[in-house]
Amino acid sequence: MADTHATLSPTTPREVILAVLGALVAPAIVFFLIYQLILKDRSETHLGALTPAQASLLAEENIKPYAKLTVVDANAPHALLTGEQVFNQVCSACHAVGALGSPKFGDKAAWAPRIAKGYATLVDHALHGFNKMPARGGDSALQDIEVERAIAYMADAAGAKFKAPDPGAAPTAAK
Ligand code: HEC
Repeated sequence: MADTHATLSPTTPREVILAVLGALVAPAIVFFLIYQLILKDRSETHLGALTPAQASLLAEENIKPYAKLTVVDANAPHALLTGEQVFNQVCSACHAVGALGSPKFGDKAAWAPRIAKGYATLVDHALHGFNKMPARGGDSALQDIEVERAIAYMADAAGAKFKAPDPGAAPTAAK
């Protein structure tokens, strides 16, 4: 039976070059397109293209799951916050839900061993940080007395009898 199949002609150097070029150029084009896409996506949210207010909003949006950003006028007179206000503005980010292993607000079992450490130790830990507990709850603008009030507010809600310091009292006088 006669072989009717067409015989393959030997590959010419020109074909080899075209094949190599194709193999190199095709992925390059794909990468270029992906890069363009990413670049375009970036430029839309690039901070430089935004007004400061928008950038601030965007930053806040990005850090929302982890922190709160409160922009304050450093020159404005600082009205001292109550323990509850500090808790709501700063500490609640973690302590309202017990994030990162923090003692949850109102959870007596979680707070009992903390309260047992004594007020002074808790103040020291809250002011300077303790494991994953950030110093001042991460808000360096808080004054000592505000942090202390928040500690008293949280601890007392879980059964302690700490007295929230008032502005006239020496910072660690309350027991
Ligand atoms: C980013 C999360 C976070 C924020 C915000 C935060 N805490 Fe905490 N806090 C923790 C964690 C986590 C612990 C547990 C640390 C440990 O025991 O290892 C903790 C523990 C504490 C303790 C107990 C410390 C001890 O010695 O047992 C006190 C008191 C406290 N926080 C006060 C505050 C106050 C007051 C604020 C707000 C000004 C605040 N925290 C904000 C995460 C946070």
